[in-house]
Amino acid sequence: MSARYQFTGSTAVAISASIESGIRTDALPPGTTLPPVRALATELGVSPATVARAYQELRQRGLLATAGRHGTRVRPRPPVAARRSALRPPPLPGARDLSLGEPDPRLLPPLGPHLAALAADAGAPVGYSHAGVLPELAEAARARLAADGVPTGELTVTGGALDGIERLLGAHLRPGDAVAVEDPGWANLLDLVAALGLRPIGVPLDDEGPLVAGVASALAAGARALVVTSRAQNPTGATVSAARAEELRALLADRPDLLLIEDDHAAELAGVPLHPLAGATRSWAFLRSVSKPYGPDLRLAVLVGDETTVARVAGRTRVGAGWVSTVLQRLVLALWRDPAVADLVRRAGESYDRRRERLLAALAEHGLTAHGRSGINVWLPVADETSAVTALRDAGWSVAPGALYRIAAPPAVRITISALTSTDLPVLAAALADATHPAPPPGFAA
Ligand SMILES: Cc1ncc(COP(=O)(O)O)c(C=O)c1O
Repeated sequence: MSARYQFTGSTAVAISASIESGIRTDALPPGTTLPPVRALATELGVSPATVARAYQELRQRGLLATAGRHGTRVRPRPPVAARRSALRPPPLPGARDLSLGEPDPRLLPPLGPHLAALAADAGAPVGYSHAGVLPELAEAARARLAADGVPTGELTVTGGALDGIERLLGAHLRPGDAVAVEDPGWANLLDLVAALGLRPIGVPLDDEGPLVAGVASALAAGARALVVTSRAQNPTGATVSAARAEELRALLADRPDLLLIEDDHAAELAGVPLHPLAGATRSWAFLRSVSKPYGPDLRLAVLVGDETTVARVAGRTRVGAGWVSTVLQRLVLALWRDPAVADLVRRAGESYDRRRERLLAALAEHGLTAHGRSGINVWLPVADETSAVTALRDAGWSVAPGALYRIAAPPAVRITISALTSTDLPVLAAALADATHPAPPPGFAA
């Protein structure tokens, strides 16, 4: 898409404000190609250096990205509140939406009874001086993490995994620093890295997690932080295996200066064991979100790590948002303590596993190799994303184009299985087969 927007401004500040306003009002929606520097400079009667400075400023703030020979584009989710900001075409009316990456709402534990119990026993209001991490929540979280082999020295609570990652990156890195991220990887993380003015270095992965050689070359290229998804990697479903964890720990042991961040967002929902890297470096943090098993609206994650790293996050939170509401912490604690909820979460995990495995098997019958060791997504390599997404849309299925998740990894589509029923599977597999032929070589490493 090419921009027909009326750009204005005679200084870099004014030009970048004009572009930002276009993004905010959706006149320049995500994916829009901006005019080449020289063309816009001529149009505005300014020097190319002025336009280049405006583009540079917006790139550093994560609004624009350089798309190689495609020029400069508006990022998929620029960090300004636009009315609509996603690279996904809206599903056609009546289409089944498998593009969202949301947990299955039918499988989330009902919050009503625990909210009612909290209301009945609300206790005295908590003020500024007593708020913070609830000791009972910290104790319960430590026990749960220790059971999975995560060292649990220092602990704090953040408003979700991504909030924790933002605070970690903000405290340790400066704009322009490089951060190693999985490629393909979580779109929100790529957007956050861009919004913080950091440089992403893609690390290829396979079903067992980040490739050791990929991490080594990201470190050699100057990465100051590494973000690894422990299980249910988004979008590929990869899960760090015992063998990969051991190799990565050995590699990272030589890099005490690196900030290692692990994201265990699937938590109790992941039907596979955890093989943590936590503690392999001097600066490390392990995050466990409650979003996937208990509901994304709860906005809470537990963060453990070394003393300095946790103190930076907790200290920065204290001078900003302050703390995660103790009302929310009490709700999470009540959910953790309820055996009926634990049973629901276990059954939810089994349901995802079943549907994912059946979809993978149905695709295999059509000769297609897709990926999904754990979690709520399946990653299907395709020869051409745009034509696959369009053909599927015409067949009544909306899936997410891999471009949202990729840096240099080859094309694919992401299929979220949350809305699928067993009767859907053969129909969807046939539609996917029709939409993706000829099949590209299997695998998702670049
Ligand atoms: C890789 C990954 N991490 C974390 C999350 C959830 O993060 P939060 O706790 O911020 O809801 C998601 C949700 O899709 C995810 O895909």
